[in-house]
Amino acid sequence: MVELYLNGRHYKVDVEEDTPLLWVIREHIGLTGTKFGCGKGICGACTVLVEENPTRSCITPVGSVKGKRIITIEGIPSYHPVKRAWIELDVPQCGYCQPGQIVEAYALLNKNPRASKEEIISVMSSHLCRCGTYGRILKAIQRAQKLMEVKA
Ligand code: FES
Ligand code: FES
Repeated sequence: MVELYLNGRHYKVDVEEDTPLLWVIREHIGLTGTKFGCGKGICGACTVLVEENPTRSCITPVGSVKGKRIITIEGIPSYHPVKRAWIELDVPQCGYCQPGQIVEAYALLNKNPRASKEEIISVMSSHLCRCGTYGRILKAIQRAQKLMEVKA
């Protein structure tokens, strides 16, 4: 039995400790926003936050995150500037990579709200998008920065 603290709730799941966190989130907890892409830590589709740090859940054994604070795409409020900017700029095409992209952008702006264009590109370049939405992703993050300034 593994105990997890995910999106502000406690869960007990009956799995082996070496089960990938992604499968626990999707199959046992039933939150399917986090996606399976490559399964090898390359594409970023499965990104979640563990103690604020973007983490590839497909290669993270669930036993290594016991008791740690985990946030998935579902745990980011819909009114957060990142999600609002994504909708405003109509970023997704097929949408498959977008939960991982949004989680990464959310973490980036929490750590560095004034990240430069170069810093944004550098961080976000670790995520693959087959639909080539990179330009809109950059614009949405810059739009979210403006929305965060208005709020402050
Ligand atoms: S599915 Fe985890 S990095 Fe691609
Ligand atoms: S929107 Fe289709 S893979 Fe990124």
